[in-house]
Amino acid sequence: MALEISLAGKVAVVTGAARGMGRAIALKFAEAGCSAIAVNDLRIDDDMRSLEKELRELGADVIVAEGDVSESGVVSGLIDAAVAKWGKIDILMNNAGIGRKIDLFDTTDEQWDRTLEINLKSVFMGMKTAGTYMKEQGSGVIINMASMSGVTGGSQGPDYSASKAGIIALTKFGAKTLGKYGIRVIALAPGYIQTELLDSLFTDPKFKEERMAAIPMGRTGTVEEVANVAAFLASDLASYVSGDTILITGGRLS
Ligand SMILES: NC(=O)c1ccc[n+]([C@@H]2O[C@H](COP(=O)([O-])OP(=O)(O)OC[C@H]3O[C@@H](n4cnc5c(N)ncnc54)[C@H](O)[C@@H]3O)[C@@H](O)[C@H]2O)c1
Repeated sequence: MALEISLAGKVAVVTGAARGMGRAIALKFAEAGCSAIAVNDLRIDDDMRSLEKELRELGADVIVAEGDVSESGVVSGLIDAAVAKWGKIDILMNNAGIGRKIDLFDTTDEQWDRTLEINLKSVFMGMKTAGTYMKEQGSGVIINMASMSGVTGGSQGPDYSASKAGIIALTKFGAKTLGKYGIRVIALAPGYIQTELLDSLFTDPKFKEERMAAIPMGRTGTVEEVANVAAFLASDLASYVSGDTILITGGRLS
């Protein structure tokens, strides 16, 4: 039999799942055999409803919840609901995040706080709640969506880069704290992946051209390509990967 990525019987929680990478990851987890997936986004809109339908068609039981991940109780409430319904949480995918292209001098204190709360504080809150359950279980995987910007300093905005670098540090801290309980904590650091978020970054054609010219593979990545890596990392095939930041950049950092 060919080697396959299996998440059979696993329970996963994915934030920011209506669109983009979160959606692709939730669907990939279901395709790999997750028995149950709890998904969150800001609103339960048509995208969320179609996601729920697709997840069910792939054989997963589903919880769909709305809420801003920066608010206390939103990510923890989603995790609590998953554990109450399915008795465990095997995988937490902290995916939700925002970003827009902005200059240092135009970044207001309010924008700084907002970005850090959505992108970074939500990861801290999710890690704490999921870690509490996973510690009892003696197993679990927490994957945090960082970014290449968190490694390079980026060119999107100071708030964005700092939030993503913070996720990389928090991931290492989580791996050190939770490793002894059989919990792995990993950061994903994609380069330029084709999503609505990237469209909002690439509105200036000159900026887009410069960035594209710097990618050795000559193209942006697809959400599917990131989801494949996330599924592998969540699976037992990656059983010794923890504390690490996995870059997915088409060679951009070569
Ligand atoms: N697209 C890229 O090139 C790229 C590269 C590196 C990292 N990332 C990161 O990947 C993650 C997903 O980005 P994407 O490109 O798929 O973006 P996207 O905008 O396509 O999707 C993000 C999803 O998160 C949801 N969301 C936003 N704020 C939220 C909040 N406060 N609470 C709950 N849900 C919220 C959105 O509604 C949307 O459905 C983000 O953390 C982003 O920073 C993106």
